[in-house]
Amino acid sequence: MEQILQKAQRLIEDAAITFEERPVGLMAAHNGHPSAPNYRDCFVRDFTVSGLWFLLDGQPEWVRNFLETVLEIREQELAIEGHEILPGIMPASFRVAKQADGEQILADFGDRAIGRVAPVDSMMWWTILLAAYVRVTGDRSLLERPDCRDALRTTLTLCLQGSFEVFPTLLVPDAAFMIDRRMGVYGHPLEIQALFYGMLLAMAELSEWVEDDQALARRAERRQTRLLDYIRRYYWMDRKRLGELYREQEEELGSQVRNIFNLYPESIPEWVDPWLPEPGGYFTGNLGVGRIDPRFFAQGNLLAILFGLADSEQARAIMDLYETRWDDLMGAMPLKIVFPALEGEAWRLQTGSDPKNRPWSYHNGGNWPVLLWVFAAAAVRTGRPEMAERAWKQAAERLAGDQWPEYYDGRHGGQPGEQANRDQVWSAAGLLLSRRLLDDAGATDRLFGFLPRDSRQ
Ligand code: GLC
Repeated sequence: MEQILQKAQRLIEDAAITFEERPVGLMAAHNGHPSAPNYRDCFVRDFTVSGLWFLLDGQPEWVRNFLETVLEIREQELAIEGHEILPGIMPASFRVAKQADGEQILADFGDRAIGRVAPVDSMMWWTILLAAYVRVTGDRSLLERPDCRDALRTTLTLCLQGSFEVFPTLLVPDAAFMIDRRMGVYGHPLEIQALFYGMLLAMAELSEWVEDDQALARRAERRQTRLLDYIRRYYWMDRKRLGELYREQEEELGSQVRNIFNLYPESIPEWVDPWLPEPGGYFTGNLGVGRIDPRFFAQGNLLAILFGLADSEQARAIMDLYETRWDDLMGAMPLKIVFPALEGEAWRLQTGSDPKNRPWSYHNGGNWPVLLWVFAAAAVRTGRPEMAERAWKQAAERLAGDQWPEYYDGRHGGQPGEQANRDQVWSAAGLLLSRRLLDDAGATDRLFGFLPRDSRQ
């Protein structure tokens, strides 16, 4: 075991990106697939996993450098070009270019990425990592910086701004988070809602900025409560809820109706009924008018447990589902990113016939070792660490031998992904961080704070 942990650690350290001689980030992969040179960038969402591990490993200066660098890029971008469409959004990734007259940081705000997608999750991961940094180190000096306070305020303003929506969830385009290619995840995808909720919790703890805008802080608090109620109530799926969905009335008007989205049972795919066990339940992937996407998205569900967005019964039911449907959701290599895959006509229409996202590969039902850390955190929160131990062993047996693939292919995730990078840094970081969370019983609370009373699990 020690040996594999050391290998993982070396992989991370070798991926360091330095700027003016300070380590400021990590490449996403050493051995990127030739078709995707941007894997040498430091991605905000990828770094967060290593950053959390650095915090537990007594190397907080890494995290501070990273947090400051992202802040500075944001300023740079605002000052140089302006960012008219989305002022204040954080980059998906950045790299350091060595030029004749020195080093320069180049950022991608989605304007260089495949498919040109704005990474809505970056500002959320950044805020969540900042809160973890402050909790672990007690160092609040970053929060005194005007640019940091401005970043927090702008992020909130962006997320809370008025829209054409009546729901408390956040409306985002397809591919605005970890699944950053078209996959039918536009609208109100669960992962963004869980991160949004986690970010609102973090904001409430980083109270310094509140002095600058009390009214915004009150709006954030109200939104947090509404979001919590809404997700718990409407995104939830279990046998009871499925039965209700089949029986509910459609075409109802007024404020007292139950089927507020006007969902028709015919729109629920056939796999759901035979697959859904009792006990067990989960949050559906997306919800909107006339539309429920019952695919199981791992990261959103597990983050919902970690942040207490799931109440204690829901958290237990999600873990029960993992237990009963282990082969589907865990498979040979933990964890399945989404279940089931889109196939046939659904694949053609919803992915735009994307060959990288063919059924049971990559985002479309591939298995992603990085998700092990969030599974471990959820298992710790629900008092079921033995489930995470089992998954950890499965991953540890193969990851180094397979050269740390980014993802695995197949219904059961048995084969390293055909187009997967090797030496993928967050695959190694996921293994390291989950080991820490399992070995150190207090680590999850130290990083993410205690759960609020109503969702203690
Ligand atoms: C892919 C993934 C994305 C990740 C990036 C770098 O684009 O979809 O989630 O951040 O690679 O690893």
